[in-house]
Amino acid sequence: MSAQRIEGKQISDAIRIEIGEETAKLAQRGIVPGLAVVLVGEDPASKVYVGSKEKACQQLGFYSEVHRLPASTTQEELLVIIDKLNNQSSINGILVQLPLPKHIEEKAVIDAISVAKDVDGFHPISVGNLTIGDESLLPCTPSGVIELIKRTGLEIAGKHAVVIGRSNIVGKPVAMLLLREHATVTICHSRTADMEAIAKTADILVVAIGKPKAIGRAFVKPGAIVIDVGINRLPDGKLAGDVDYDDVLDTAAYVTPVPGGVGPMTITMLMLNTLKAAKQANG
Ligand code: GUN
Repeated sequence: MSAQRIEGKQISDAIRIEIGEETAKLAQRGIVPGLAVVLVGEDPASKVYVGSKEKACQQLGFYSEVHRLPASTTQEELLVIIDKLNNQSSINGILVQLPLPKHIEEKAVIDAISVAKDVDGFHPISVGNLTIGDESLLPCTPSGVIELIKRTGLEIAGKHAVVIGRSNIVGKPVAMLLLREHATVTICHSRTADMEAIAKTADILVVAIGKPKAIGRAFVKPGAIVIDVGINRLPDGKLAGDVDYDDVLDTAAYVTPVPGGVGPMTITMLMLNTLKAAKQANG
């Protein structure tokens, strides 16, 4: 039997309608969620992402500021801008687009963002709050993964979830969120021995390794939910996930496509975080 496609675009659209309704309610109280995006340099992919974030703000009626800075911007200059945004009441969320030019220390920049405005969820205090289960802004792609599973009507509690990949941006936080949802969680990575055998025990398999079509049916338990976080550009210009979608179709019960799976969720969760930060800032 062929797996059911998890339609990220449809789920994302449904959440955006909910965000639009909440935003309209806040507007009655004179509150407009505000997002500041900071882009340093000319990375083409980053420019596209930043443009999409700006557009999402316009569509939802958020206030947005995009600070496009030259690649020659110094760390000190960037920190001055972040400090200003931390203290600007019209801004509820601050996102510094990564990667940064090599002469700027990423950690120094992330640490400088006010935790209350940390809509990426990358600040060490946000990461700590996620780990101990306290209220915090959740990292966007990982929380998008959880929403995709839940809104497809699938249970997480009690399931064995295997996460392939241990990055700070996806692998580790998605594992922590699955744990919070009461899954039994295993994290696999490049040094894992016999990854296939472990992956094959997963009821929920989340893949975030940045290698096109690396995970095929040999890694998938019959009936598993497969969530593909990878977005890789192939030599022919097409996009491919980390999962070989066609190869796992007859084994998995549910699978996310690329594009159209996890991708559309990320910016939507960013908007949700900005809305949440605006509500918290206004009591
Ligand atoms: N670059 C690629 N993904 C992300 C993300 O989620 N947040 C930020 N700030 N930069 C990114």
